[in-house]
Amino acid sequence: MQYTISNKMKDLEGSAIRAVLKMTQSKDLITFAAGVPAPETLPAQFIADKTEEILAKNPALALQYGVTDGYAPLVASLTARMQAMGADMENNGVMVTSGGQQVIDLTARCLLNEGDVVAVEAPTFIGGLNTFRSYNAKCIGVALEQDGIDLNALEDLCKKQKVKLLYTIPTFHNPMGVTMNETKRRALLKLADRYDFMILEDNPYGELRFAGEDVPVIKSMDTNGRVIYAGTLSKVIAPGLRVGWAAAPRPVLDKMIVAKQVVDVHTTMLSQIVADAFIHSEGYDAHIAQCRALYGKKCKRMMECIDAFFPAQATHTSPEGGLFLWCDLNDGRDTRALLEKAVASGVAYIPGYTFMTDITKPTSTLRLNYSIPSIEEIEKGIEILGGVFKA
Ligand SMILES: Cc1ncc(COP(=O)(O)O)c(C=O)c1O
Repeated sequence: MQYTISNKMKDLEGSAIRAVLKMTQSKDLITFAAGVPAPETLPAQFIADKTEEILAKNPALALQYGVTDGYAPLVASLTARMQAMGADMENNGVMVTSGGQQVIDLTARCLLNEGDVVAVEAPTFIGGLNTFRSYNAKCIGVALEQDGIDLNALEDLCKKQKVKLLYTIPTFHNPMGVTMNETKRRALLKLADRYDFMILEDNPYGELRFAGEDVPVIKSMDTNGRVIYAGTLSKVIAPGLRVGWAAAPRPVLDKMIVAKQVVDVHTTMLSQIVADAFIHSEGYDAHIAQCRALYGKKCKRMMECIDAFFPAQATHTSPEGGLFLWCDLNDGRDTRALLEKAVASGVAYIPGYTFMTDITKPTSTLRLNYSIPSIEEIEKGIEILGGVFKA
């Protein structure tokens, strides 16, 4: 049977990260390839107890359809959270989504026409890239610096082409771990006004700060309704709950709600009720503090080991939060080609090409995750990787 796949999907490849994870599944490996919270932080007991309580007390609320915008108490909690971050919630609304990924999809669905230009950080999150690609948008990479996107390069792009949307992960970036400073955030909004583009601010890691000072979210500086904010509880509670949210200017949010009705009707009620209970629970602050301390300790040890064992010319970012750091071997070699050797030696990482708009170009960069491996695995794995990169 010959199947005719739609123009939207026919050229779209599955995530290269999934391919690496598949390659690592069958082997006994130290993996720096993941992008998920440490399993010991998942509040399994709370979720089990709360689920039992909800199903005993109010099964119909949890198991029937819910409204598309989301479970009202959770919408109220997330609205208050956005307000506390400084966002203008008189002119913006909140909708609960099935993870932050769905905010990216609904944004693309509501804003993009075929051929529209989406400026993305280079490198960027592959889930974002693939979403924009699936709407036949044109993704153009703009260099990401230690303090955020290169605004001069972005302005150059805006002068040459009409940019419809900028996709940014300004805080504890995936994959680079860097954070855009406040000055750049303000300048970015001015650029958005000057060249009339919308901004999708994707912030899954913002709560996971373990060093440095908080930087206000771009949404808090958005006086002209240019920013759609994507939040998620995946990295701070559990990705399996699939609870995220969009905070967006009302007219855009109203369309996103209609779009969500087309996609999956509503976000699972049971997950929303559990998530809302957890963020209001006594243990929430301690839980976040535990995640921050754990990731800070692991990140620090990973950086020390990279400094000790990687080739002298290799560099790495110094994250102040989140789950990842980014290395550059700075030697012209392609980390895609080196991955097989690393896996054969017992260590996995994500090669940098997977996060680029043009995946055919060789790059000497790689993403390393520190939330999953233990301190001992970090020490052993980085030493092995250093040996592979020095060979
Ligand atoms: C930058 C970024 N955005 C969005 C997501 C999607 O998260 P979820 O859909 O689980 O909330 C991720 C997950 O890895 C991510 O790293």
